[in-house]
Amino acid sequence: MRSTMIALTQRSAVKRALSRATKLLMVILLATAGFGQEPALKDAYKDAFLIGASINRAQIYERDARAVGIIRRHFNAVTAENVLKWELVHPAPDRYDFAAADRFVAFGEKYGMTIIGHTLIWHNQTPRWVFEDERGRPVSREVLLERMRDHIHTVVGRYKGRIRGWDVVNEALNEDGTLRQSPWLKIIGEDYIAKAFEFAHEADPGAELYYNDYSLENEAKRRGAIELIRKLKSQGVPITAIGLQEHNRLDWPSIAQVDETIAAFAKLGLKVNVTELDVSVLPWVEPGSDEAKRAASDPRLNPYTKGLPDEVQQRLARRYAELFKIYLKHRDVIDRVSFWNVTDADSWLNDFPARGRTDYPLLFDRAGRPKPAFYAVISVGMNRSAVGSRRAARGDESNRRTVRKTDLKAR
Ligand code: GLA
Repeated sequence: MRSTMIALTQRSAVKRALSRATKLLMVILLATAGFGQEPALKDAYKDAFLIGASINRAQIYERDARAVGIIRRHFNAVTAENVLKWELVHPAPDRYDFAAADRFVAFGEKYGMTIIGHTLIWHNQTPRWVFEDERGRPVSREVLLERMRDHIHTVVGRYKGRIRGWDVVNEALNEDGTLRQSPWLKIIGEDYIAKAFEFAHEADPGAELYYNDYSLENEAKRRGAIELIRKLKSQGVPITAIGLQEHNRLDWPSIAQVDETIAAFAKLGLKVNVTELDVSVLPWVEPGSDEAKRAASDPRLNPYTKGLPDEVQQRLARRYAELFKIYLKHRDVIDRVSFWNVTDADSWLNDFPARGRTDYPLLFDRAGRPKPAFYAVISVGMNRSAVGSRRAARGDESNRRTVRKTDLKAR
């Protein structure tokens, strides 16, 4: 009797173990194969950093269902592309309009994402009234500081505890590393930057606060940024991280420049985030130039209107793989890598630096399908976890898991 009981208990224990193993296997299969779905970007970089995207109004209001599907599957952080910029959220002196911004934050919360606020103090997309009195004359330092304080307290305060971090000051530097002669600088003076961080900290002491800029990979601008951050830190200004926008091209910046830039800011004791990643495949033209005006109809400046040749797809895929290898190298200081927009159709680069061109800067094509660059990024992320766990388990670095090149081409 006793032995029958033991046998039964053992059998059900084995059964339970088997069913647990089957369930686990199913979860793994679903996670990796997803019934024909591609692996998720955020899973490939789990435990390394967040993978984010900036989202537009049609996505925030869930009118663009295809993009929303991509965002939910692949990203765990969202940045507002426009709806938190001054001109939209605070269009007139006595009028705030939070309709779209509230929806943006609700979207992030609904899908359990990290929510990033962009941006508080910038020279662009800020209405002229901010800097002028009723007669169009520049306001005094005191008036502008008071407007800045009111804006930051109202906007940051509204989302206190819900928005993880803010791009407090955006693009304060010139290419040569000096401070940009923006109305903020001209009217308030150099301490406008410190003041903006102080106001943001008062409004939400728990929020992360960022300085965000582009082309920091170029030496002169990077040096200026380092000097600026050092000064802010020595004054006790509450700054958490630097945002590298990373609006890249196929041939700029070099991988060594990206590597050095991340290392240089990390040395200052700051976190480094990649905040606006994309890679233009089109020839650069000077914004506002005659060349830029005719670029859309010039096949040399707008060469891929009928699709991207395979050779360029592969270059883009290699470029993205190299970038993500460097980001992984610095994973201890990088909290988040965010793309600027979701699919090629949404990208601002179709209209910048020249209007009306056809660019291919992201991981999802115009129909929302993952591109070879997507699989290259996934492959880099998955190699990392495969290598990491094997190394830990067996001290064995051979036999890496890869998404094969032929796979990349086939998709
Ligand atoms: C800058 C800004 C963003 C956005 C992009 C282009 O990088 O920080 O808000 O305007 O330009 O879309």
